[in-house]
Amino acid sequence: STYTQASSDSFLQCLSASIPNQILFTRSSPSFASVLASSVRNPRFLTAATVKPLCIVTATNASHVQATVVCGRTHGVRLRVRSGGHDYEGLSYRSARADATPFAVVDLAGFRSVRVTRGTPATAWVDSGATLGELYYAIGKVSDRLAFPAGLCPTVGVGGHLSGGGFGMLLRRHGLAADHVVDALLVNAEGRLLNSTTMGRDVFWAIRGGAGGGSFGIVLSWRVNLVAVPPKVTVFNIPKSVQQGAIDIVTKWQEVAPALPDELLVRVVAQGQVANFQSLYLGTCDALLPVMSSRFPELGVDRTHCKEMNWLQSVANIFLGDGATVEDLLKRTASGDAVFNKATSDYVRQAIPRDIWAQIFTSWLARPTAGLMILDPYGGKIASVSESETPFPHRKGVLYNVQYMNFWGSAGEEAARTGWVRDLYTFMAPHVSKNPREAYVNYKDLSLGENIVGGGNVTSFEAGRVWGEKYYKGNFRRLAMAKAQIDPNDYFRNEQSIPPVGNQF
Ligand code: FDA
Repeated sequence: STYTQASSDSFLQCLSASIPNQILFTRSSPSFASVLASSVRNPRFLTAATVKPLCIVTATNASHVQATVVCGRTHGVRLRVRSGGHDYEGLSYRSARADATPFAVVDLAGFRSVRVTRGTPATAWVDSGATLGELYYAIGKVSDRLAFPAGLCPTVGVGGHLSGGGFGMLLRRHGLAADHVVDALLVNAEGRLLNSTTMGRDVFWAIRGGAGGGSFGIVLSWRVNLVAVPPKVTVFNIPKSVQQGAIDIVTKWQEVAPALPDELLVRVVAQGQVANFQSLYLGTCDALLPVMSSRFPELGVDRTHCKEMNWLQSVANIFLGDGATVEDLLKRTASGDAVFNKATSDYVRQAIPRDIWAQIFTSWLARPTAGLMILDPYGGKIASVSESETPFPHRKGVLYNVQYMNFWGSAGEEAARTGWVRDLYTFMAPHVSKNPREAYVNYKDLSLGENIVGGGNVTSFEAGRVWGEKYYKGNFRRLAMAKAQIDPNDYFRNEQSIPPVGNQF
C-alpha cells in the first residue's frame, strides 16, 4: 500500500540519519543479497519467493541497535534479529507470510566479543553474535579445566541458542546453557538498554529460554557462569547395525542412558540401518570402562573405542570428526550449509516398546526418502531443576529428547522429504509425551501452530497456546505476562513470538 511505501521510505531516512552508512544495506545495495545470505543455513528460505527484509543493519555496538529500534517504532516498521542465523524456520531473516508488514533485520554477526574472567565461579561476557565455537575456543584457551554447557554445532549463534535453552554433551552433568546465564543486556521496544535488574525479574526469567523468537527485545550480551571439567575427557562412538542388534540395544538404551552417572552422556543418532552411540565421559578411559561394562554391556565398549583428549578438543572431535582441530571451531560456515532441511521434535517420558523400534528401523528409516533421528538422553542436572525455574519445562521425568530431521539437495525433493518428517511425527504420537505433546523451541517448527493477531492489534494468547504450551507447558502464561510488561504493544512479533497477556485473564 502507499502507507507502507511512505513508512518504509521514512524509516530508511531515519536510519540514514542515525547510524553509519557502512552498516546499512537496503535492497538496492550491491551487497544486500550477500549480506542476507551470509548466515542462512537452509536454502528453503532463500528463494525468489522468500519474503525478505527492507534492509539489514549489521550492528557493531549497542547504539546502532537502539537507533534502529527507535526508527522502527517511529515509522511502523518491525524488526527481526539475527545472531547465528540457524533458526529452523528462518524467522530471524524472513517472514513466513506473504502479507507481512515490512520488517528490517538487525544482524549481530559482527557483535561478537567474548571476555572470560577467572574466579569462583569463572564467568564470561559473550555477545549474541558470537558462535558457540568462538565461545568454546575462548574458554578453552584460558583453561583446559573450564567449559560451557551448550549445543554441539559450533556455528550456532549464542543469541538464538541461549534464548531457547541450549543443550549438548554436558546436559546431564550441567544442564542447559540458559541455566547458567546470570546477567544480560537487552534493548527493549523503546530502544532502552536494560540489564538483569532494570529489565525486571520476570523479563530476566523469560529471556533465559523463553524468548526463542525475539519476543522481549534484542539481547546484546550475556554473562554466563562457566563450569569445571577434568583436564582429560573420553569420547567414544559405537555404531550398531540392525544385524548387530540395534533394535534391542536402542530399546534398552531408553532406560539405561537417562540413569547413567551424570558425568556420562550416550546419545543415539539413528540413520539408515545403523544406530550410532555418540558419547562423552567427563573422566578417563580407565574410569569409564567399568561403568559401561556394568551398566550397558550390550554396547561392548573396550579400550580400543576410547579417545582421551581435553574438553575443547572433544567439542571439535564430536561435531567435526577425527581430523578436526580446535581452530576449526572458529569457522563461521560449515560444509553442510547449503543443504535443504526440515526438523521437528518430541519428548519421551515412557520407554517405547521394542516392536515400535523394530518398525522405526525396518520401515521408517529404511525408506529412500528417510532422514534421521537424534535421541538426547536427559536425567542428571537438566532434570534436577524445577519446571518453573526457567521457561524450559522439559525436566524431571523426561527420558530423552527426539529430533526428527531430513536433508535433501534440490528443491524438487521437498515434498517427499518433509512428508517423511510429518508422517513419522504422526506415527509417533501414541508413544511420546501427551497433553501437551512437548517440543523443544530451539528446534522451531511452524507446523505446530502460528500466531494470530487479534483485538488491539496484538497477538492472541489463546490462539498461541496451541504451539506455546508444547514448547513451554504452564510457563507459557507467565511468559505472556512478562511480554505484557515489557512490550505491551507487541512490537517484537513474528509467527511464533510470545503474545502479551494482561492480568485480566
Ligand atoms: P538465529 O539468529 O536464526 O535466531 C534464532 C531465533 O532467535 C530467531 O527467532 C531470532 O529472531 C531470535 N534471536 C536471535 N538472536 C537474538 C537476540 N540477540 N535477541 C533476541 N532474539 C534473538 N540446539 C541445541 O540446543 N543443541 C544443539 O546441539 C543444536 N545443534 C544445532 C545444529 C544445527 C546445524 C542447527 C541449524 C541448529 C542447532 N540447534 C541446536 C538449534 C539452535 O540452538 C537454534 O536454531 C538457535 O535458535 C540458533 O541460534 P542462532 O543465533 O544461530 O539463530
